[in-house]
Amino acid sequence: MKEGPNIHIGPPVWGCDFFDRKKTIDVCWEKLRNNSIILSAPRRYGKSSVMLHLRDKPSMEFFPIYFELEDHFSLAGFVYEFVSKILEHDKSIMKKFKKGFSKIFKGIGEMSFWKFKIKLKKTIEDEGDWEEWKERIQQMIIDLVKTKESKKLLFILDEFPLMLSNFIKQGEKGETEAVKLLQWLRKIRHESPFLENVRFVLGGSIGIEKVISYLKATRTINDIETVQIGAFEPHVAVDFIKKIFETKELEVDKNVIKAIIEAVGTLIPIYLHIMIDSIIKESMNTGRKIEPALVKECYEKRVHGPEYKCYFEDYYERLWRYYLNEEAKSAKRMLRELATADDGIPIDRLFLIYQEEMRNRGDKEKFDLLLSALESDFYIERDRGEKKVYFHNKWLKDWWRIYHGA
Ligand SMILES: Nc1ncnc2c1ncn2[C@@H]1O[C@H](COP(=O)(O)OP(=O)(O)O)[C@@H](O)[C@H]1O
Ligand SMILES: [Mg+2]
Repeated sequence: MKEGPNIHIGPPVWGCDFFDRKKTIDVCWEKLRNNSIILSAPRRYGKSSVMLHLRDKPSMEFFPIYFELEDHFSLAGFVYEFVSKILEHDKSIMKKFKKGFSKIFKGIGEMSFWKFKIKLKKTIEDEGDWEEWKERIQQMIIDLVKTKESKKLLFILDEFPLMLSNFIKQGEKGETEAVKLLQWLRKIRHESPFLENVRFVLGGSIGIEKVISYLKATRTINDIETVQIGAFEPHVAVDFIKKIFETKELEVDKNVIKAIIEAVGTLIPIYLHIMIDSIIKESMNTGRKIEPALVKECYEKRVHGPEYKCYFEDYYERLWRYYLNEEAKSAKRMLRELATADDGIPIDRLFLIYQEEMRNRGDKEKFDLLLSALESDFYIERDRGEKKVYFHNKWLKDWWRIYHGA
């Protein structure tokens, strides 16, 4: 096998496997000079890969730290993640921190880092005063800024809105914690010395707007610009396909590439990976030559098969996790109708479908809110001129029809 981008389905990609995204990365660095950003796209579009790239190949003036937040459900969880990552990054801060906590961390000198982390977690949970932890964290940030001389700190918070949504699921306490955290992050972005020295990238697979408006906290993020991660442009996708086949030392002609582009529709890297993976496997299993007819067959019979089903299941499961029961039920019905419709569905007709599912207990306002949520969570697209609603993209629509269309 040659050096070059290889098929790498599921986890974020890095090194040779990370392809292009040049424009997106340039836009991120440009905006980060003066502002923090939200990096927004559906799950599996390539956000974490971009964020890891920002971490691994930072622009000269930044010192990045990456935080994975999806599995945290409380402010204590966030504090733990934040504090332990900062300590991991700078031994000198670790010394100061240990001094400040000498009573709690007795004998810490001999402790391994993971044992220390367990102790830290327990301490944060037991000593849950946010006001105090906030001060400590601010001091740590100031200390870190000093050690990095003229560099700005870049805190990359992956799946930030999902974490807030996890907080909200815990009830009133969680909601209060989410607002406190948002207020604190705003303060950090607006007050010296943080204003000049700290930037955030907030990455999210669900629309942050829905979470924030539920919390009635729009003011806390209205200063942050959003950078969208979308599909590859066609010429980038062509190059990507060519390079992968070259890495695999397989020859394909331009009609095959054209057939792949047409079948996939929205040129998201993971869709292209799955498509190419299935073509190569099918060709190896059957001995057939890779040609447009095989591509078409693989799209129809393999790419949405059980082998790749799991990569998209989260879209379905998430409805139950992040929507109220009643909303989830009517959303599921609307998505089923949209997945099985040839084209989009006029908004008036979709409202009737919604009302039917709600046994006429819904109203226009609730319906509009639900549509906005489904739009910002990347399930649907609305054509406001045509007054029609569509599934977000062809691949997902086909996947949904196969698994949840009946
Ligand atoms: N720049 C890229 N180059 C090649 N493949 C990519 C790229 N970005 C994403 N992918 C593909 O998409 C998958 C999911 O990427 P990831 O960054 O984890 O997405 P997200 O964080 O948006 O869910 C990867 O496993 C890989 O198949
Ligand atoms: Mg991710």
